[in-house]
Amino acid sequence: MGIVTRKQSCAKRKPSDSMRIIVIFFVGTALGLIVGVSLPTMSISKVKLNLPSINLSCIQQKYTETTSSSQDQLPSDPSKIWVPTNPRGAERLAPGIVRAESDFFLRKLWGRPSEDFNSTPKYLVAFTVGYEQRMNIDAAVKKFSENFTIVLFHYDGRTTEWDEFEWSKRAIHVSVRKQTKWWYAKRFLHPDIVAPYEYIFIWDEDLGVEHFNAEEYIKLARKHKLEISQPGLEQRKGGPCWNMTRRREGQEVHKEAQEKPGKCKYPLLPPCAAFVEIMAPVFSRSAWRCVWHMIQNEFVHGWGLDFAFRRCVEPAHEKIGVVDAQWIVHQDMLSLGNQGEGQTGKAAWRSVNQRCGMEWGMFRGRLTSAERSYYKSKGINYTDLLVHNY
Ligand SMILES: *[C@@H]1O[C@H](CO)[C@@H](O)[C@H](O)[C@H]1NC(C)=O
Ligand SMILES: *[C@@H]1O[C@H](CO)[C@@H](O)[C@H](O)[C@H]1NC(C)=O
Ligand SMILES: *[C@@H]1O[C@H](CO)[C@@H](O)[C@H](O)[C@H]1NC(C)=O
Ligand SMILES: *[C@@H]1O[C@H](CO)[C@@H](O)[C@H](O)[C@H]1NC(C)=O
Repeated sequence: MGIVTRKQSCAKRKPSDSMRIIVIFFVGTALGLIVGVSLPTMSISKVKLNLPSINLSCIQQKYTETTSSSQDQLPSDPSKIWVPTNPRGAERLAPGIVRAESDFFLRKLWGRPSEDFNSTPKYLVAFTVGYEQRMNIDAAVKKFSENFTIVLFHYDGRTTEWDEFEWSKRAIHVSVRKQTKWWYAKRFLHPDIVAPYEYIFIWDEDLGVEHFNAEEYIKLARKHKLEISQPGLEQRKGGPCWNMTRRREGQEVHKEAQEKPGKCKYPLLPPCAAFVEIMAPVFSRSAWRCVWHMIQNEFVHGWGLDFAFRRCVEPAHEKIGVVDAQWIVHQDMLSLGNQGEGQTGKAAWRSVNQRCGMEWGMFRGRLTSAERSYYKSKGINYTDLLVHNY
């Protein structure tokens, strides 16, 4: 049953079949960095495609040379600045001018920069949205105070219509058609860009927030030292897939759960502890910095990422948990149904599910082999270290 629900929540997100990417930045400056970084890689693959006669190993080599900050570039001339402790690639700059991190704070085009704002948001919430779900998102956004930067990732290309909501004018809108929450998160929530935010919410669009208040939620997450968390979950139809994420009444938080007999051979491992789902996760700044690095570029649906969150915090069974006192409802809206085109709709739905499972398998394989190689290189017996319940 659990798997079925996961499939639905995965398939609801839109399949990625288009390479035509239109990005609308209402606030473009902070994001320019990310685009700039991705350009060299893109141009190389272009060369590969169009000019097969060029010696690629040459180009690739040049590319690695210019991007790596090898120590042997260390200039002997002391009048040339070289600071190895600077961020990679910025060694030629005097440290005082280096700003390694940015933000989504909205600035004025006039006046003194120091007077651009009186206070800055401390938290960030990102929703992946289609215009059809605007009423639900409007209700959700109202549960997040002015202390939040609101980011909307639009998968249907409709952005200006959202200005019917007053809050939309201070939100960050990123519009790229038919991509998924984790695709956007990897590209537009780089840890250096969202560094000022103490907590980062990366949420689906179909959550009912009637019994949820974000400020109260953060108070509890902080009190119980949760680095990765989610609100307790009530499911409209049936129950949540996992006992761990199910809301428990009369409690502030919980950090462990029982599953059916035999499913919790390792009680401190997912889904019995150290586990929240990908639907409505909340990350501390430092946990997100780690999780971001774990997201593979083609791992867009994120199935199974939740089973791996625990690698980013230690001890995971204490720092990952569910906040019961502020809870949400998973409404299971079928937004992919709206997307279906007659008879082909069903096939599209199924092939998205297939892709979700394939990605999960690939991710799990990579993770296991990466950890195996790591332990091997350290001469550590990993037999007992690579165990899991699921
Ligand atoms: C391509 O360049 C590499 C490195 O300079 C060289 O070793 C290799 O022989 C070249 N290959 C061809 C086909 O020219
Ligand atoms: C926003 O943060 C400030 C400073 O921590 C706090 O005083 C205020 O109560 C917060 N706003 C809400 C609506 O909770
Ligand atoms: C779910 O977890 C609770 C608390 O650990 C436990 O009492 C209950 O039996 C569990 N349910 C199932 C189906 O395992
Ligand atoms: C590694 O650990 C497992 C379980 O503790 C043990 O059975 C196995 O013999 C060990 N392998 C080596 C090479 O020490």
